[in-house]
Amino acid sequence: MTTQEQNLPVHIGIIMDGNGRWATNQGLPRSAGHKKGAENIGPILEHARARGIKVVTLYAFSSDNWKRPKAEVDTLMGLFRRYMNEDIKQLQEKHVRISFIGDRERFEPDMIKRMNEIERDTAAFDDFHVLLALSYGGREDLIAAIKKIAIDVLDRKYLISNIDEHKVHNALSTHAVPYPDLVIRTSGEQRISNFLLWEIAFAELYFTPIYWPDFNEHDLDDAIEAYGRRHRRFGNVTP
Ligand code: IPE
Ligand code: IPE
Ligand code: MG
Repeated sequence: MTTQEQNLPVHIGIIMDGNGRWATNQGLPRSAGHKKGAENIGPILEHARARGIKVVTLYAFSSDNWKRPKAEVDTLMGLFRRYMNEDIKQLQEKHVRISFIGDRERFEPDMIKRMNEIERDTAAFDDFHVLLALSYGGREDLIAAIKKIAIDVLDRKYLISNIDEHKVHNALSTHAVPYPDLVIRTSGEQRISNFLLWEIAFAELYFTPIYWPDFNEHDLDDAIEAYGRRHRRFGNVTP
C-alpha cells in the first residue's frame, strides 16, 4: 500500500470556482462556463468514488450568489433544474446517496419538490454520499444550528452547560457526514467564501489555479496525492 492510499481523505469538499473566467478567456458568455462546469460534475464524482472517497460536498451556489445579475441567476437555475431532472438520474442509478444543503426555501417549488424526492429516493444508499451545497452559506448554517439548539434548551432537552461540539455538529446541515478532510478550491482564489465554516476547522486546504470546467480526473488525483503527503496533527505533536 502506498502512503497515498493509507492517507486517503474520507470526505472531500470542492469549491467549484472559475466558470465565468473560463468562459471569458475563450470569448464565450459566462453562461457557457456554467454549462461546461455542470458537465464536469459527473466525471469528477465518478473518479472520486473510484478512488475510494466516501463523501463529496460540492459548493455549487452560495447564499451570496443570489446577488449576481438576474440573467446569470436565471441561467444557473435553469442548469440546476436540468441537473436535478436529468443528469442526477445517472447518480441515482449508481446508488449514490444525494443530499442538498443550503436554504432550499429560496428555490422555485418544483425544485424544492425534486430536492426532497431525490433525498428520499437515495436515503438508503450508503456507499458514496454527495452533498450539493445550493444557496448555502456557512454562517447561515451556523445561525440555523444556533436557533435549533436554543429551541432544544427552551424545551429543556438539555442544559446550556451540556452544549458541546457534538451538539453543534448535529444541528448543522452536514450532521450526517464526517467533517471534510480535504477542501479543494479551483480557479486560483485562495479563500473559503463562506463554505462549511465550522466543519473545516482541521481540513487540509488545496488551491489550484485551474478553472473548474478544466479540472479533470488527473487534477483530482494530484489533490488527493498532495493530501497524502500532508501531516495532520490536530494540535498534537507528530509521534
Ligand atoms: C463558480 O464560478 C460557479 C458559481 C459561483 C455559481 P464563478 O461563476 O464564480 O466563476 P468566476 O469566479 O466568476 O470565474
Ligand atoms: C464561491 O465562489 C461559491 C461557489 C463556487 C459556488 P464565488 O465566486 O461566489 O466566491 P467569491 O465571490 O470569489 O468569494
Ligand atoms: Mg467565482
